[in-house]
Amino acid sequence: MTIDDPGGILAGRTAVVTGAGRGIGRATAVALARAGVATIALLARSAGQLEGTARLVEAAGARAHVRPVDLGDPTQIADVVAELTGTIGDVDILINNAATVAPLGPTATRSAASMLDAFTLNTIAPVLVTGALLPGMVARGWGRVVNVSSGIVAHPAVMIGGSTYAATKAALETQTISMAAEYADTGVTINAYRPGSVDTAMQEWIRAQDPDQVGHVLHDRFVASHASGRLLTPEASAEGLVGHLTRADNGQIWDVTDPS
Ligand SMILES: NC(=O)c1ccc[n+]([C@@H]2O[C@H](COP(=O)([O-])OP(=O)(O)OC[C@H]3O[C@@H](n4cnc5c(N)ncnc54)[C@H](OP(=O)(O)O)[C@@H]3O)[C@@H](O)[C@H]2O)c1
Repeated sequence: MTIDDPGGILAGRTAVVTGAGRGIGRATAVALARAGVATIALLARSAGQLEGTARLVEAAGARAHVRPVDLGDPTQIADVVAELTGTIGDVDILINNAATVAPLGPTATRSAASMLDAFTLNTIAPVLVTGALLPGMVARGWGRVVNVSSGIVAHPAVMIGGSTYAATKAALETQTISMAAEYADTGVTINAYRPGSVDTAMQEWIRAQDPDQVGHVLHDRFVASHASGRLLTPEASAEGLVGHLTRADNGQIWDVTDPS
């Protein structure tokens, strides 16, 4: 994979990737390393998975910094980011990728706690991590923030039983566009990325759910999508994301199908 970066805009940069232990986050961290990013902090809960990503990042030529953290606990975020910048220095690129697809199933029976957990991780945590890193990016006049969203925002009716997930991502895109306008002309760009349907543990987890619990329509859709052989690899999706970072776009909803 080669990222077209003739100006070397990514070379030597420092990045943070959340949800970097597997799937799209892991592939994005490796793609950033291959594109010349020098230092990449890897955040998720599972230390062992992060160590696996760190080995790949280092093999691709970048320094990796592993920081296990539960981003579903908003009380930890400011301290973790302060500790990170104290260790790896100024952060230029932030990829807010960690998310949960749960809860799934009939919306009318959904608990408030399960919806709060989803919104906390998928929508609030990206804003808190961004908020902790933005002042430094603005002061230095350059930064890239990407919020990993989902194509489900454009077609929420196709994911019966996934209404909370769709709502968290719709809110994330609205936050993205609003914050991008707020920080326009600072040198910091804030965009969202719809990564496509990607063959990851998230999709595997959906297929492993009891259809009687999550709903047969939802379950059958994901089983059929996998069986079709049309799921993207995490690497292909990550290439689309990283390819956009060399541009000055702001407040855009990028899609994996866009040319990058
Ligand atoms: N796969 C798809 O088809 C698809 C489609 C559209 C959008 N997306 C989006 O793409 C992104 C990545 O998805 P994926 O498919 O790669 O998912 P995945 O394979 O499940 O990976 C999710 C990553 O997020 C981390 N994470 C989950 N909960 C966390 C928490 N509370 N705190 C910190 N990290 C946490 C996970 O690590 P731990 O569990 O160890 O914490 C893991 O590293 C998500 O935003 C997802 O919504 C995926």
